[in-house]
Amino acid sequence: MKPQKILITGGAGYIGSVLIGQLLAQGYFVRTIDNLSFGDQALAGYSHNSEFEFLHGDIRNSDDCKQAVESIDAVVHLAAIVGDPACKKNSELAVAVNKIGSQNLLDAARNAKVSRFVFASTCSNYGKMPDPDGYVDESTTLNPVSLYAELKVGFEQQLLNHSDSSITPVCLRFATAYGLSPRIRLDLTVNEFTKELTLGRKLEIYGEQFWRPYCHTSDIAQACIKAIESEKSVVSHKAFNVGDTQENYQKKTIVEMIIRELPEFKENVIYVSKEEDPRDYRVNFERIKNQLQFKITKRVRDGIKEYIELIQSGRLKDLDSSKYKNI
Ligand SMILES: NC(=O)c1ccc[n+]([C@@H]2O[C@H](COP(=O)([O-])OP(=O)(O)OC[C@H]3O[C@@H](n4cnc5c(N)ncnc54)[C@H](O)[C@@H]3O)[C@@H](O)[C@H]2O)c1
Repeated sequence: MKPQKILITGGAGYIGSVLIGQLLAQGYFVRTIDNLSFGDQALAGYSHNSEFEFLHGDIRNSDDCKQAVESIDAVVHLAAIVGDPACKKNSELAVAVNKIGSQNLLDAARNAKVSRFVFASTCSNYGKMPDPDGYVDESTTLNPVSLYAELKVGFEQQLLNHSDSSITPVCLRFATAYGLSPRIRLDLTVNEFTKELTLGRKLEIYGEQFWRPYCHTSDIAQACIKAIESEKSVVSHKAFNVGDTQENYQKKTIVEMIIRELPEFKENVIYVSKEEDPRDYRVNFERIKNQLQFKITKRVRDGIKEYIELIQSGRLKDLDSSKYKNI
């Protein structure tokens, strides 16, 4: 039976606030728990929807988790301290939220007989690809090179190795996100580079040759919905990379795509040589395409155009404000 009531943790965030909109549009009841680390602005558009419920709470608190999962069919667990710099800066908090908070939530979900638990993991788990000319996929040995990725890998293993058959765990390893959202982030590669060049600033690129995969917020949200709706036998105890094999890029290529839209700022880019980056990965996304029929609808060049339009429109104020960054 299709789940009806969905809990999103971290719904006031960059990806969560897009996912809430898509779920409500598809007729789901959506509850979110969020401690509003970046404010509640991203939820403003949903607050009057009778199918939406907001719980101002913290996943580090077991009682909050218990309340959050009450009469819920499926959980999409996004709440976290997100990114290498944020986790490095506050490692105690990162462990408390990403490890202990996640465990609290899973315990509460099991006790409440929630049937599906979708975990937001990351392609950063791959670290550096073993074959510089190849691709990593879900069968590649994970190689976390930061606390952020270590905590993601740790919780993935806990979920996927658990034999409890009453709950269906699914791990989604998102590519680096870009694109619009009710919560704008200007600290992610595509968004940040586009913002700096649209403003006509100098842009220093470190390690232009390193590879990463990218995926639009709206497509990541669609992947979460696929993970909720797919047959248990297709997704149970599995990890899926979320993105598209055609959307792996070197940083240099991202910059070239931006310059194609803003040729007047070509001279503003400064490449700074960096021979070593512990993270360098090109990812294969065939599993999600073949098993969940997931197809992206946007490409990086679309996200670049969205951000150029957003910045040029002047709708976004205080572009250097910390509210657009996770550090
Ligand atoms: N953005 C990306 O490029 C990307 C890539 C791979 C994986 N992910 C994963 O996707 C998820 C969402 O990322 P995002 O970019 O939307 O991040 P975000 O920082 O915008 O959102 C995270 C949300 O979690 C909330 N939160 C943090 N600690 C909490 C706590 N203790 N209790 C309740 N709520 C709490 C924050 O207030 C915020 O609203 C994360 O798990 C992240 O690791 C993101």
